Amino acid sequence: MPTVTFLGHAGVAVDAQAFHLLADPWLAPTGAFLGAWHQYPRNDHLNPDAVLDADWVAVSHEHLDHFDPWVIDRLPVRTRILIPRYPGPAFRERMAAAAGGRQVIEIEPWGKYPLDNRGSWITVIPELSPMCHDAAFLIVADGRGILHCNDARLTAAQARRAKHLAGDRLDLMALQTSGASWHPICYEYPAAEMAELSLSKRISKLRAVQRLVRQTEPELAVPFAGPPCFLDAEVEHLNWVLGQEDGAFCDPEVSTAWLREHLPRQRWDHFLPGDAIDLDTGEITRDPVSAEFSFADADRGDYLKRYAADRAPALAAVLAEYPEPGPDLFDRFAAHFAHLGGLSDYFRRRIAMTVRFEITGPNGGAWDVDFGEDGVTVAVAGPDVRPHYRITTAGRWLDAVLTGRMAWEDLLISFRLSLYRDPDVYNDHLVGLLKHANAPALQAVEEYETGRDESERITVDCDGARYDIPRYCPHAGEDLSVGAVVRDGRIHCLAHNFAFDLATGECLNARAANLTSRKLP
Ligand code: FES
Repeated sequence: MPTVTFLGHAGVAVDAQAFHLLADPWLAPTGAFLGAWHQYPRNDHLNPDAVLDADWVAVSHEHLDHFDPWVIDRLPVRTRILIPRYPGPAFRERMAAAAGGRQVIEIEPWGKYPLDNRGSWITVIPELSPMCHDAAFLIVADGRGILHCNDARLTAAQARRAKHLAGDRLDLMALQTSGASWHPICYEYPAAEMAELSLSKRISKLRAVQRLVRQTEPELAVPFAGPPCFLDAEVEHLNWVLGQEDGAFCDPEVSTAWLREHLPRQRWDHFLPGDAIDLDTGEITRDPVSAEFSFADADRGDYLKRYAADRAPALAAVLAEYPEPGPDLFDRFAAHFAHLGGLSDYFRRRIAMTVRFEITGPNGGAWDVDFGEDGVTVAVAGPDVRPHYRITTAGRWLDAVLTGRMAWEDLLISFRLSLYRDPDVYNDHLVGLLKHANAPALQAVEEYETGRDESERITVDCDGARYDIPRYCPHAGEDLSVGAVVRDGRIHCLAHNFAFDLATGECLNARAANLTSRKLP
């Protein structure tokens, strides 16, 4: 005691002397995100009655591979649900709707919330920028420290502070190494460019994990939280991302091998659904069913075929819930964007471009949304307009967003769409507007970005020149003195992989605030 049992993906169970706590359990047999994502390896051999008999369930954020309504619905009424307090109401409201009569408690960032009367507690550590509503959990159970990072990209300073708060010792640190986002895999890149971007994504993710672990030196570091696999016909072609040599997402086995090689004095391990570790003795118990599983490329095809066949009825039921939209689709689309465009002048001005939506299926069409200085206009796409972003998806998925059954971010993460941008530059505010879609959350981002303190500065050397730059990344506050790589006249922030030109300060791969850089004599 205490024991940590891995439930697959980012899910863990913590069994202490006085409580059974789950963090981010994802068990739904329908997967998540419109049935596009499935747990990999599968975890449906775990007994839900035993797993879900919990005193506490902590859910870090609203992505459906972490916030699983299937799980929430099956919890005992006594289970108390813990979520981070974010600037907007979206997650709180969504969880309250799923929770029924169960108590939902919001935890303040860095505030210790007691789990028993023996000194155990939990806290949440949100990403610095309110643009991303992701948070890590720091749990101290029977005196043992567990840092469960899930999808949160903590800065080095946050990770060090977490260790200090846990008594200067982390017994277990679990970190996401697969970074399953829609870039680059949903973009229309030529094959060679896709391969290059995928490799760069893998490496930057692993480097970010390496950096955090180097800063905190936990007793045991564990790559976890993905990747998922794809079982439905519309998205099954995406399983190439699981390739151990050249996929975009690193599985825990590949991640562990890479990280062991690059930080050899650190203790690393990875766990499959049902594996458990006793944090007092270090004893590991392997799950006999999961022990049969292999991440190897040669074994994947048959495994996924059987998995897809088993889940086919559940998937068919999910898809049947999303009928084709009616003839008013365009009108509802236009009203939706008129509403979004009115939520924040700041976001609209930062987006400042035309986004084309190509909606396939009945009552679809090509529609342009222009984010201008004075407002948003929506029109049927004209031949003379050159959009900067193009998003292609089916009308039935768009309909689910317009009716509020699904958030934009759920659709993006479902990968049931394709994207193109010209120039090939990430627009953080476009994605931010779509994913938050409420005024308080957007206001919090504006205040964060316009109130940044750049008084603390550092000097970096590159190719024989010296540059004076702010210590903290203008995107989301990473400490660039430890969380960045300098080469070829650029500084690459490891938190979200933005690259800045040291001579001009310009952000080269995203439409983000520039670095205020100055070349020193
Ligand atoms: S903090 Fe996001 S790229 Fe630097």
